Amino acid sequence: MPAVGFGCWKVNNDTAADQIYNAIKVGYRLFDGAQDYGNEVEVGQGIRRAIDEGLVSRQELFITSKLWNTYHEPKNAAAALERTLKDLGLDYVDLFLIHFPIALKFVAFEEKYPAALPRAGSYEYENVSLLDTWRAMESFSKAGKAKSIGISNFSGGQIWDLLTKVEIKPAVLQIEHHPYLQQPKLIKYVQDQGIRVTGYSSFGPQSFLELDHPAALLAASLLEHDAVKAIAKKHDKSTAQVLLRWAVQRGVAVIPKSNNPDRLYQNLTVENFNLTDAELAEMAKLDIGLRFNDPWGWDEIPTFH
Ligand SMILES: NC(=O)c1ccc[n+]([C@@H]2O[C@H](COP(=O)([O-])OP(=O)(O)OC[C@H]3O[C@@H](n4cnc5c(N)ncnc54)[C@H](OP(=O)(O)O)[C@@H]3O)[C@@H](O)[C@H]2O)c1
Repeated sequence: MPAVGFGCWKVNNDTAADQIYNAIKVGYRLFDGAQDYGNEVEVGQGIRRAIDEGLVSRQELFITSKLWNTYHEPKNAAAALERTLKDLGLDYVDLFLIHFPIALKFVAFEEKYPAALPRAGSYEYENVSLLDTWRAMESFSKAGKAKSIGISNFSGGQIWDLLTKVEIKPAVLQIEHHPYLQQPKLIKYVQDQGIRVTGYSSFGPQSFLELDHPAALLAASLLEHDAVKAIAKKHDKSTAQVLLRWAVQRGVAVIPKSNNPDRLYQNLTVENFNLTDAELAEMAKLDIGLRFNDPWGWDEIPTFH
């Protein structure tokens, strides 16, 4: 799995196909998508255009998708993966993740696909255990429809429990990860199990500003943070590159999203410099346990509490 990929959340439907195609042209090989992002049709168009034009082969690409919360029941999970493959126009995904350890009541595809989060106060759940959903994921791996399978937004305790019963171990854990939320113990435990960690929202509050997320509006920007700026200046890099490099140096893969061609290229080129131990120590001081993507804010779901 490449250490740097392109995140497809909030990539608009009308521009997604071109953006994916251009990202492949620039050199991206990993695309992190999800049923929930509502743009798998367009992401697939961009991928297939690049393949058809001979820019890359399917084997050179690493395509991730995620099972949405309303499809945890094994039969629904199978139908949802088929829908993803049909939308992307692919025979398999390279990685399929359980998006959240939360089973919401099934919503029929004809009614709404993908099913958005319910309105506050109208949440309904489904009694499906994570192990049952994981068994379905294992069957997708065995069938070759998902080359690897993994999890996202799981806590250490949930992973611990899952590992007691899995036949196929999760290949990847995807988590929110930036200097304000460093989670060293979770990362150590997971990496010790041989599970690869991918970090999302590497720029911290930045991604959540456009959603008017209250904590993001209050938080100081990481891209403008004095400590990050000082390190960036020393290496003649942008602050975004420092934030991505910091993650990669911790063994955490990154999947930044950008709609801007210059930033797209900049985000990919984070392999040619190293933060010093002193700089890593400065970055460690920024950890304040500040999480932006928290299901407690949906319906008081205690995912991380
Ligand atoms: N598993 C999960 O639950 C989960 C949750 C959230 C995200 N994700 C995945 O992780 C991906 C990345 O996370 P994210 O989308 O939350 O946020 P992100 O990549 O941390 O941040 C994106 C924001 O940063 C800006 N940006 C990007 N590159 C920049 C640069 N070089 N300099 C300055 N600003 C820059 C973007 O604006 P411009 O577009 O204008 O450049 C956008 O506003 C998602 O797309 C998705 O694939 C997964």
